[in-house]
Amino acid sequence: SFIQPPQVAWASGALADGPLLRKSTRIQDLTDVFADENARQQLAGEQVVYDVEMLDTSPAEGELYTGVTHLYPGRVGCEYFMTRGHFHARREQGEVYFGLRGTGLLLLQTEQGNARLEKVFAGSVHIIPGFTAHRLINTGEEVLSALAVWPGIAGHDYAALARGFRIRVFEENNRVQAKEVQNG
Ligand code: 6PG
Ligand code: NI
Repeated sequence: SFIQPPQVAWASGALADGPLLRKSTRIQDLTDVFADENARQQLAGEQVVYDVEMLDTSPAEGELYTGVTHLYPGRVGCEYFMTRGHFHARREQGEVYFGLRGTGLLLLQTEQGNARLEKVFAGSVHIIPGFTAHRLINTGEEVLSALAVWPGIAGHDYAALARGFRIRVFEENNRVQAKEVQNG
């Protein structure tokens, strides 16, 4: 008679045994997100760039959401697949990311425009403070999966960084290369 809680399979990030919400984000949804918009248009629009699965829990103040992002390997031109990235609508609200599988980077950017990159790997823990935009980047050849916990009231503000973050990450000469860009 003990309660069966939801589960996350650490190796794959798959969530089970809870009411789940799912959202796929495809190449066709990511207009102007990558540096090379022409390269994006050459790719199959239906190709999924990332899937998000989350527990369908209360969004009330004080409650927490739990979700997993699966970011697939790939590039648009030379730029690695990445999430759209956002500030929380409630700017002061933070978030914690846990790397589960694959390898990549978490791009963090403050409201003042200071950007930094943290390595993401199985077991990595990322404290995202309030007032800090965040974007996952898959620099590897496997799926990058990360577990996240964030306040139900946080919301998303995608418009604030619609022109891009200050750093973009490319593959050049088989190496991961981070570049500062002027927009963002
Ligand atoms: C959130 C989390 C996370 C994020 C996904 C997809 O605040 O909801 O940061 O679940 O939404 O990784 O990234 P985008 O929301 O930037 O598309
Ligand atoms: Ni977030």
